[in-house]
Amino acid sequence: MIEQIVKENDVIILGNFNNYSHEIIQNKIVDLDCRIIGGWNFQEQEEAVSTNDFLFADSVVDMKNKLTGQKPNTALIFIKSAILDAINNSMIQEVTEEILTDIRDLGKIETIDKIIFLSFNIDILTVRSIYKEIHNTKMTPYFITGFHAAYLGANPEVIMWNQLEIDPDLDEELRSENITSGKFLDVGTGSGRQAIWLHKRGFNVTGIDLVPYAFSSAQINEPGIRFQEDNILHTKLEDTYDYIFDRGCYHSIDPSERNLYFEQINKLLNKDGLLFMKCRSTDISTDTEGYHNAMPYCISKDMYIPEEHFQVKKVRPAEYLSSSNKSLFNALFFVIKKI
Ligand SMILES: C[S@@+](CC[C@H](N)C(=O)[O-])C[C@H]1O[C@@H](n2cnc3c(N)ncnc32)[C@H](O)[C@@H]1O
Repeated sequence: MIEQIVKENDVIILGNFNNYSHEIIQNKIVDLDCRIIGGWNFQEQEEAVSTNDFLFADSVVDMKNKLTGQKPNTALIFIKSAILDAINNSMIQEVTEEILTDIRDLGKIETIDKIIFLSFNIDILTVRSIYKEIHNTKMTPYFITGFHAAYLGANPEVIMWNQLEIDPDLDEELRSENITSGKFLDVGTGSGRQAIWLHKRGFNVTGIDLVPYAFSSAQINEPGIRFQEDNILHTKLEDTYDYIFDRGCYHSIDPSERNLYFEQINKLLNKDGLLFMKCRSTDISTDTEGYHNAMPYCISKDMYIPEEHFQVKKVRPAEYLSSSNKSLFNALFFVIKKI
């Protein structure tokens, strides 16, 4: 994604960067003849600062002052971990205000012609107001999906939804049904943790995700698993699988595309194959307060499935555990059979 936007000879500055996002972007552009000359963050990011001649600023205004003689043409502005910060509406508002201020200030740096926003979840009115603002200052905006942003803003290993242990509901299902071998696809694999567990259990595993840098470290460390950048809604996979696991992907797909999702699952799953799915439940009674902002969709226990191809074998209430093993929200665990 970044590679498609950043072009040769670009001179880049990073807004609200952190060491992790700096490193990833640096690795992405290493083959292009372009440079990251500096960035701003109100907290010191020592590693980035200590590498070569990176100009560190603590605000946009400070950045402008430090850019004497250098002419960046691209600003990558991170809407800083909006997902992680999205505890309540007032914080989203605050983050948004901060971004608008950055844009206004950057408008005074005349050479900036590209701004990339990496945002997870901003409501549509805010998006419109940001666009309006940018058009007034004659800049070209790009938006990147929330998942790209989230994985650039936080290491996939510590991102809040990355559960380190095998998902307990999947584990229980595999044990109780004595499922021990076969081909498994992990849809929306993220850091690849669940795929690694399945591989250790003896399955032949493929993991796909929209965001390749989410699984890049697992890809290096676990050569026995096939990881691939792929959109499940337009999958390029040609293989078929005995089992599919989806922990948190389906519930982030726009409801208008659920049909398409099941069309693809139908192509990928062998007859009598099983889809194990963990989704955020419509029972939000004990959810973390305000988490709705970051995760807009919920799935009910009588969710839509194309009955000509699938049958719900089991559905039970469950929890969606975080990287620190706390419950993020109420979930449902489905076992769906292809008939
Ligand atoms: C909540 S995260 C869960 C990640 C992982 N399954 C886990 O349990 O940690 C959802 C994942 O689905 C991926 N995703 C979302 N939409 C997708 C799509 N259309 N195709 C493939 N992956 C997608 C996101 O990039 C993200 O990594």
